[in-house]
Amino acid sequence: MPIEIKHVCKNFGALRALDDVSLLIEDGTFVTVLGASGCGKTTLLNMIAGLSAPSLGRVVLDGKPIAGPGPDRVVVFQQPGLYPWLNLRDNVAFGLRMRSPRRIEWTRVDEVIAVMGLSGFEAHRPYELSGGMQQRVALARALVMSPRVLLMDEPFAALDAQTRHNMQRFLLDLWEKIRATVVFITHDIDEAILLGDRVVVMSARPGRIVLEKRVPLARPRDWEMSLDPAFIALKRQAMDILAG
Ligand SMILES: Nc1ncnc2c1ncn2[C@@H]1O[C@H](COP(=O)(O)OP(=O)(O)OP(=O)(O)O)[C@@H](O)[C@H]1O
Ligand SMILES: [Mg+2]
Repeated sequence: MPIEIKHVCKNFGALRALDDVSLLIEDGTFVTVLGASGCGKTTLLNMIAGLSAPSLGRVVLDGKPIAGPGPDRVVVFQQPGLYPWLNLRDNVAFGLRMRSPRRIEWTRVDEVIAVMGLSGFEAHRPYELSGGMQQRVALARALVMSPRVLLMDEPFAALDAQTRHNMQRFLLDLWEKIRATVVFITHDIDEAILLGDRVVVMSARPGRIVLEKRVPLARPRDWEMSLDPAFIALKRQAMDILAG
């Protein structure tokens, strides 16, 4: 689903968290968002999720103004936010249960659990899982919904380098198949370039978009592309902005 952000401002009291932000995200594209802490990335994501409304301007999803959260959009937060009283399998199935309590596709649930490398841990409660595993459960819970729009707020920030790499790989493979519209926030410039069709860089106080670039790298992507001169040029540009 295409997302149009049109001249959006967001004020929190006297603070202008977002200032005249406009962005057109085409259906099925993967957009990554970089920016210093406090520049309004989560604020922007929350508006697309329908969790908060702009002070000025409009956020339009598939041609319709966003009025609140909906089953077409799934959010993955930085913290896994699992339900401690549910085991892994029930956590993954949670969204499906909300959608239609009597018709949960358990084969699909188990398929996603397997793909995430979590088979064998179905009966474990969150506290019996490592942080990386919990984050994978959170991702599984989102992906099992096959959302048209996937909103991710630094989903891999808490993971070790190898797990993070595996998750990036998995996310890209999956996205190649489902072609959801993805908005992915990260502090990691390499991650932003490696994953995105387009990279958006924001500045803080007030939060504005200061750079928006198409990533000139073919898909499928792999980490060796970080040695590509086009990758390095874009990285340098983003770094210059983020360094202020
Ligand atoms: N509900 C709120 N009430 C008041 N101020 C808020 C609220 N949410 C965010 N802010 C403020 O808006 C600004 C942007 O916050 P936001 O969480 O969007 O930043 P961010 O870019 O996601 O930062 P980070 O990278 O640290 O997650 C910050 O100055 C923050 O204090
Ligand atoms: Mg944030």
